Amino acid sequence: MKIIEVLSYEEMSTKAANFIIQQINQDPSSVLGLATGETTLGLYKKLVQDHYLNNTSYQNIRTLNLDEYVGLAENDPQSYRTYMNNQLFNHVDLPIQQTHLPDGMAKNLVEECLRYDELIYNIGGADIQLLGIGQNGHIGFNEPGTSFQSNTHVVELMDSTRKANARYFSSINDVPTHAITMGIQSIFNSKKILLLASGHKKANAIERLLNGKVNEDLPVSILKNHEDITLIADREALSLTKKNDGIYSTY
Ligand code: GLP
Repeated sequence: MKIIEVLSYEEMSTKAANFIIQQINQDPSSVLGLATGETTLGLYKKLVQDHYLNNTSYQNIRTLNLDEYVGLAENDPQSYRTYMNNQLFNHVDLPIQQTHLPDGMAKNLVEECLRYDELIYNIGGADIQLLGIGQNGHIGFNEPGTSFQSNTHVVELMDSTRKANARYFSSINDVPTHAITMGIQSIFNSKKILLLASGHKKANAIERLLNGKVNEDLPVSILKNHEDITLIADREALSLTKKNDGIYSTY
């Protein structure tokens, strides 16, 4: 795992944006695996700025998002589709039909999971998968205990995850109880992984990732076995991890 320590959220966002832009420049038909949440907001802002300043084109890009809440319509202000449209898709030259998220309003959720897996398979998986990390070490909405072999599935969100995400809703009761998430196997199959972490709230999960074993109790830990993973983390997120002469002790 390559680890890039940065000073701030701002620096993390700049470095992550450069990483994605480099991917697009190398292969303008890349498949980008995208994530939502507070962690990626700054990065999307920088991608939009870069699109205006440098004309980086998304014409041939296809995107696969990690997850979506069950029961929120596409145009619900809190849906991940709305987040993606507002933060990125509406501001770059990416044809909307080339963007994909699971459909949290599908009548048959089991069929929807199969459809999403087929789509991932037909597209050939992500060339680069962007990831945030939950405070409990989840990736996408793969909560602790999820099989590393999992495909797209419906999850019941843990109370701690609903609480962590309640800040976007008027009350915790409005936070959906379920979500559809890409499985850990599909995430792992991405050619490259870019994992981002910022702030004290993520320090415990990052410490467990870097110092602990690969274990289904910590979904993100499987990424230690990935051959092309970069973690960009700020000092706060790395604050519980011991460092030796600039090299983290455990990798
Ligand atoms: C959420 C999302 C994840 C996200 C993570 C961290 O629940 N499902 O995709 O990476 O938790 O969120 P945030 O960036 O807001 O801390």
